[in-house]
Amino acid sequence: MPNPSILILPGDGIGPEVMAEVRKVIDWYGTKRDLAFDVSEDLVGGAAYDAHGTPLTDETMAKAQEVDAVLLGAVGGPKYDALDFSVKPERGLLRLRKEMDLFANLRPAQCFDALADFSSLKKDVVAGLDIMIVRELTSGIYFGEPRGIIEEGNERVGINTQRYTESEIDRVARSAFELAMRRGKKLCSMEKANVMESGVLWREVVTEVGKDYPEVELSHMYADAGAMQLCRWPKQFDVIVTDNLFGDLLSDAAAMLTGSLGMLPSASLGKPMANGRPKALYEPVHGSAPDIAGQGKANPIACILSFAMALRYSFDNGDEATRLEDAIEKVLADGFRTADLLGEEGVDPISTTQMGDAVIAALD
Ligand code: NAI
Ligand code: MG
Repeated sequence: MPNPSILILPGDGIGPEVMAEVRKVIDWYGTKRDLAFDVSEDLVGGAAYDAHGTPLTDETMAKAQEVDAVLLGAVGGPKYDALDFSVKPERGLLRLRKEMDLFANLRPAQCFDALADFSSLKKDVVAGLDIMIVRELTSGIYFGEPRGIIEEGNERVGINTQRYTESEIDRVARSAFELAMRRGKKLCSMEKANVMESGVLWREVVTEVGKDYPEVELSHMYADAGAMQLCRWPKQFDVIVTDNLFGDLLSDAAAMLTGSLGMLPSASLGKPMANGRPKALYEPVHGSAPDIAGQGKANPIACILSFAMALRYSFDNGDEATRLEDAIEKVLADGFRTADLLGEEGVDPISTTQMGDAVIAALD
């Protein structure tokens, strides 16, 4: 069997800085755990634009389709703000998501005990929190037709359309049920079936798919009530599945329960490939952070946790993923903090590289 393959796309700003620390972790697995990967690296975003005049070349796109997992840093930066929309760095990322057909976006909200004080919510509300939001990523109101701004009478009208087919709902529901089976066997589906027909269909299809997963306890909630419940008592949830728009909001809200942007990983999954592994892109939630880029201040944990998700969801190695998450938990419990994780007290922050080294030491 060939080694599993990973394509690394560091991108712009702090992307390459945090990815360098992930490289150390990947290398550690190769030498210390006999878990070697075939790693290749390429350009995306502004870096690709600078070199090739496009944020993603056809060659890189083709490579992304072939590998077992893509690991991306971040794209964008002020340098590229004036570029034409068609070649903006973000287009590189959007093209990857679209052509790989990554319809299920997994956003965990996990609270490391050492950081529970960091949340804007009370400590006992978030300590030990571990939930997962599955957001439909390739359809819904961000893509539905008709759309645009039209003239009607003597004023303009802005139009977007929420549109979901049964098959689009079915496939993301299945991803969420599969995930629930590997976790706490509890799934809450969120829509607004009270006021939206697409929500009525969503609820029907999710309920139907649920018959294939009798072990999973399925519940439904209106998304606005879900937002309230997420802030009130998030630990009532295990897996949440929702559409593109509600998922965008709910996952951002849930993420903030846990503290810093520098801690948040994500996975975007598509259909299984010939080898059974899903098409997959792993990336931290944060952007290229131009305000701190090049200063060695970035927190690499979001990107390292994204690799942990790759171990779990692409390489079917939940044990090693847990090992890596435990190492991060230990590093935080030992008091290591990058600047974004500091309160007011006089703790000295460590650098991106030092955080990476601390994770390696904890793994050892
Ligand atoms: P951002 O996520 O880059 O930064 C927001 C704030 O969080 C900044 O103060 C930054 O210093 C801090 N931050 C982010 N990641 C951090 C880390 N790992 N460690 C420590 N602090 C961290 O979002 P912003 O400023 O809105 O966007 C900057 C650029 O990134 C823009 O060009 C934007 O388009 C792009 N972007 C790219 C994304 C991606 O590649 N997926 C996602 C979001 C934004
Ligand atoms: Mg968002």
